Amino acid sequence: MIETGEFDFENRIVAPQVIAGDSDTDYSLRPKTLNEYIGQTKVKENMAIYIEAAKKRGEPLDHVLLYGPPGLGKTTLSAIIAHEMGVNIRVTSGPAIEKKGDLAAILTSLQPGDVLFIDEIHRLSHAIEEVLYPALEDLMIDIVIGNGPAARSIRIDLPKFTLIGATTRSGQLSAPLRDRFGIIQRLELYSTEDLTEIITRSAVILGVAVDKEAAIEMASRSRGTPRIANRFLKRVRDYADVMGDGRITRDIARIALDRMEVDNLGLDSLDKRMLTMIIKGYNGGPVGLETLASAIGEEAVTLEDVCEPFLMQLGFLARTPRGRCATDLAYKHLGFPLRSGGDDGQTSLL
Ligand code: ADE
Repeated sequence: MIETGEFDFENRIVAPQVIAGDSDTDYSLRPKTLNEYIGQTKVKENMAIYIEAAKKRGEPLDHVLLYGPPGLGKTTLSAIIAHEMGVNIRVTSGPAIEKKGDLAAILTSLQPGDVLFIDEIHRLSHAIEEVLYPALEDLMIDIVIGNGPAARSIRIDLPKFTLIGATTRSGQLSAPLRDRFGIIQRLELYSTEDLTEIITRSAVILGVAVDKEAAIEMASRSRGTPRIANRFLKRVRDYADVMGDGRITRDIARIALDRMEVDNLGLDSLDKRMLTMIIKGYNGGPVGLETLASAIGEEAVTLEDVCEPFLMQLGFLARTPRGRCATDLAYKHLGFPLRSGGDDGQTSLL
């Protein structure tokens, strides 16, 4: 039987998005400078040059687009960029800017050089994008005041500022908006080594003793995502406090993560349901994303943004023009006999 039905996505322990209980200590765990920021070496090196060059010229940084799967530190990196430039950051998101006036209010409150960070920038409406273009290009906005025949337009000059846009789906960004970013950087899922370092750093900040093997155990189940790694650290600490003397050992980490139903590679029940449905329900695929999503009672975007990047990185899932396919590696990991027809050439990238 394949399980279907509502999954408690809001509280999924491996959700890369912020979930209830994340926020309180998260802020203190965030690195404040590029030097403190672990991993994403290419992005860091590039940004360090662009920041230094802009500072040397005494100019604001060019507009930056950061894209990649959720939970990799796009907001954190933006705050670091602002910090390194010595300017303030205003944080908002595409869905939060509903009316033209919302954006106008934010833009007119910026100080020269400030960073405006727009998360999920692909969700800005077309009408809002139209306000953003002249703001980016000519440093001004036209606002219409009043209705009907009495309506008039006033022009407001803006200070020079830096827009940092973050998105999980760069393909959904309109071409004109994308073209306005001088700097485009892609964030990658983190290696287990980087995540081990992040967990070790966070443990020092939280004052928790963690054995090296325990940090590796948590890191290797964190599906390449620091937000998940830090969440595991906090939850596993609870087990260490209750079941042991507060020290996180590998055994404690294993017990805790097994109880949270996160397997040795970081797959949880939603990933497994998705793969099992492809394998048992559709003979390994190909199956269309929408069909698959409705078969397991999930939203297609959830599967696409949250499950797929990680399953593809593991080499468990292949996207083909005709739909999603489970690879032989997925069959092996889930303990299904391999199909006749042999290997599809997918190998694990981890
Ligand atoms: N916490 C979350 N992401 C981090 C990173 N990239 N480096 C250091 N600490 C982090």
